[in-house]
Amino acid sequence: MTMTTNTTVSNRALAIKPSSTLAITARVRALKAEGRDIIGFGAGEPDFGTPDRVRDAAIDAIRAGMTRYVPVPGTPEAREAVAAKLQNDNDIACTPDQIVISNGGKFSLYLAMQAMLDPGDEVVMATPAWVSYKPMVELAGGTFVEIPTTADSGFLATPQQYADAITPRTRAVILNSPSNPCGTMYDPDAIRGICDAIAPHDRVMLISDEIYERLVYAGRTHLSPASLPSMRDRTITINGLSKAFAATGWRVGYTCAPQPIAKAMARLQSQMTSSVTSFTLPALVTALTECSDDIERMRTAFEARATLMESLVSAWPGVTCPPPMGAFYVFPDISAAFGRTSPGGASITDAGTFAEGLLEETGVAVVPGDDFLGCGPNHVRLSFALDEAAIEAGCGRIAAWLEGLH
Ligand SMILES: Cc1ncc(COP(=O)(O)O)c(C=O)c1O
Repeated sequence: MTMTTNTTVSNRALAIKPSSTLAITARVRALKAEGRDIIGFGAGEPDFGTPDRVRDAAIDAIRAGMTRYVPVPGTPEAREAVAAKLQNDNDIACTPDQIVISNGGKFSLYLAMQAMLDPGDEVVMATPAWVSYKPMVELAGGTFVEIPTTADSGFLATPQQYADAITPRTRAVILNSPSNPCGTMYDPDAIRGICDAIAPHDRVMLISDEIYERLVYAGRTHLSPASLPSMRDRTITINGLSKAFAATGWRVGYTCAPQPIAKAMARLQSQMTSSVTSFTLPALVTALTECSDDIERMRTAFEARATLMESLVSAWPGVTCPPPMGAFYVFPDISAAFGRTSPGGASITDAGTFAEGLLEETGVAVVPGDDFLGCGPNHVRLSFALDEAAIEAGCGRIAAWLEGLH
């Protein structure tokens, strides 16, 4: 008798698309492995190494025997260090029992959604937005409500637009400033305005994804909504090591939430991953307390690249793009290329065929904007997490390719 295996997967799993940004990263890795000359503007991760002090702290912890289970939300020392960082750098009045350390900012966000949302709850966010928010909201049974924005406004929504999007079903608003994929950010007054729009709605929480908080340029300042007294008890602040500390592979993120939500997140985490990897916790403490010069060195490099990108992209024929203000992305509108033919003879009909043609014919990888929602299908995302010579070479190839469209 032959046994058959039932490999049908759940509707939940079927409904989820894989992350398009991670797919591009994998494609670039494969093409490079084949020996192709690829310039990758795809990956959303710094090209720097994690600071030595952070690496050493983890190695020391392993050698000292820190290889066993640790408390679910993190060790007291690590939660203390996160709370101190949020108090000192972000002016957020908080205590260590509001802190939950999780496997990356991504999992912190996932837990926050799971802890807060019930079926039918709406979550409001300006789009284009990072690819994972909508699936996370939907995995928690919620509905993702978009406030569509365009390049003309720097992809920023007004307080009125937030006010108009809030309904009795709204449970949360998500802010991601500076933004992936837009590379733009709200100034402090705009943040205050958005918080004022939320304030009259008691049921509405604010999820503030501040993972790019340290990467801001040209003297701009980031304001954490949780530092505003009116928002303190209704803001969930998410951050992590990945971007500012060039530590994407470490998978360390953290949340500061009102205590009941922090407790619920820890309860969920206890049944899912137990905790982060034990020996990353002393490294997190080192990162938050001893590495401001490393962060500034990387920020300065990104700032120079942002200026370079702005000047190169602004010279591309038929392309419009708000200047980058923070994070390490630009999100140009390339829709003028639709309906045209590439130098190599490919029909450009959308952002996907644009990115595909560009990669095949020039070896330059960009991410089609479709999965970032809103006007994303008219855009591609370029991450400038690569050195200036590669940026110049890659942007030069793109310019020549655009000039050859017919
Ligand atoms: C906007 C945004 N939030 C959160 C994350 C999660 O980062 P990590 O899980 O590496 O901490 C990312 C990563 O790309 C991101 O772009």
